[in-house]
Amino acid sequence: MINTNLKFSGIEKEVKQFDKNKVSNIHKMIHEKSGLGNEFLGWVDWPETFNKAEHDRMKVVANDLRSKIDVLLVVGIGGSYLGARAADEMIRGLYPTDKVELIYVGNTMSSTYTQNILDYIKNKEFGIVNVSKSGTTTEPGIAFRIFEEFLINTKGNDVAKSRIVAVTDKSRGALKEMADAKGYETFVIPDDIGGRFSVTTPVGLFALLVAGVDTDAIMRGALKSKKDLSKESNDAYQYAIARYLLHTEKKYSSEMLVSYELQLQVFTEWWKQLFGESEGKDGKGLLPTSCIFSTDLHSLGQFIQDGTKNIIFESIIRVKKPQVDINVPKLENDLDGLNYLTKNSLHKINNIAIEGVIDAHVNGAQIPNIVLEFDKMDDEMFGYATYWFMKACAMSAYLLGINPFDQPGVEVYKKNMFKLLGKPGIK
Ligand code: PA5
Repeated sequence: MINTNLKFSGIEKEVKQFDKNKVSNIHKMIHEKSGLGNEFLGWVDWPETFNKAEHDRMKVVANDLRSKIDVLLVVGIGGSYLGARAADEMIRGLYPTDKVELIYVGNTMSSTYTQNILDYIKNKEFGIVNVSKSGTTTEPGIAFRIFEEFLINTKGNDVAKSRIVAVTDKSRGALKEMADAKGYETFVIPDDIGGRFSVTTPVGLFALLVAGVDTDAIMRGALKSKKDLSKESNDAYQYAIARYLLHTEKKYSSEMLVSYELQLQVFTEWWKQLFGESEGKDGKGLLPTSCIFSTDLHSLGQFIQDGTKNIIFESIIRVKKPQVDINVPKLENDLDGLNYLTKNSLHKINNIAIEGVIDAHVNGAQIPNIVLEFDKMDDEMFGYATYWFMKACAMSAYLLGINPFDQPGVEVYKKNMFKLLGKPGIK
């Protein structure tokens, strides 16, 4: 579960008094699929309607691949990789002991990074999952070419064929055509689900299965979230209303998502993409930013406390139950003077830090804080939280009168790049 605690937001009353009819109308728009971009609302019912047979087939293919490789290269950009990576790190941690490592490529055109990965996998057994809905995105396209060729050259065509999987549209796009022509296994990205809303489709789940993650638990979490948010009054909408009011009434221009867990860093990147790409259009939207505390308290913490005012408000993810808790050792001589800390576990100390920082930021710097409480940090919670934020995002964008499901701004750079690179047919 996620509780939205608005105690320190300064707009608790306004959120309670917010126009219920407006929220009710948007809720209906989301569920009856009647709002802007309604052709991309397939994610709303997905935790119930997802293709179970395909999920089972993915398990078989992923298990087979898992038994053959040490590294899975996850090729994709934006919504085609951030969800898998966010889940991978949130669930397995930053240094997983599981035998299969996930490495993310195709989200950059850095030649140095690409060569580094080639060097790293040179003596390893690796496979590739290529994720692209359009099947025509340049960055993953280039990466796939490079790594596919490397796999074929080092292992031969038959091995490559047994270790390459494509996740793409059911019938369209260059990737689908190529995968069919070469006999690669394919899994489908549903037509009515866009990239940043697709983490619980094969886009995220295939790589996670190869990594040994319990994807049934992810889907269970998403389903629970769907049920908890089926009413017109729910925590996700409260959060959406709070950020809407802080933006439009109190004139804040940026929301900073803060976590005190390093393994939620990519989760905050996923969140940034979800809200940034969904709401940042028509000259509107909050700029989504993120920090990981304590580390960023020693950098941006200074700006937050004493810098330019009335730009940022904070939303803090507080994790109730850590994956594991440990104690600070008690020393007989106490030369570093830290024995006073040993009455608390490390997680408790982390939580006390949260209270201290909230006090400093809210009461000292007058920064509104919303506290989002995650019960835990596992597969089920990942499914729950991603659905929760997607629902909040749809409400939030519709409150601003924005289509949450397109990304016209992203097309501008692509077009320029194609022109400069001399892509055939582009003027
Ligand atoms: O959220 C989105 O729709 C985007 O971030 C896309 O996922 C991203 O641009 C990648 O597109 P594609 O999957 O078509 O390669």
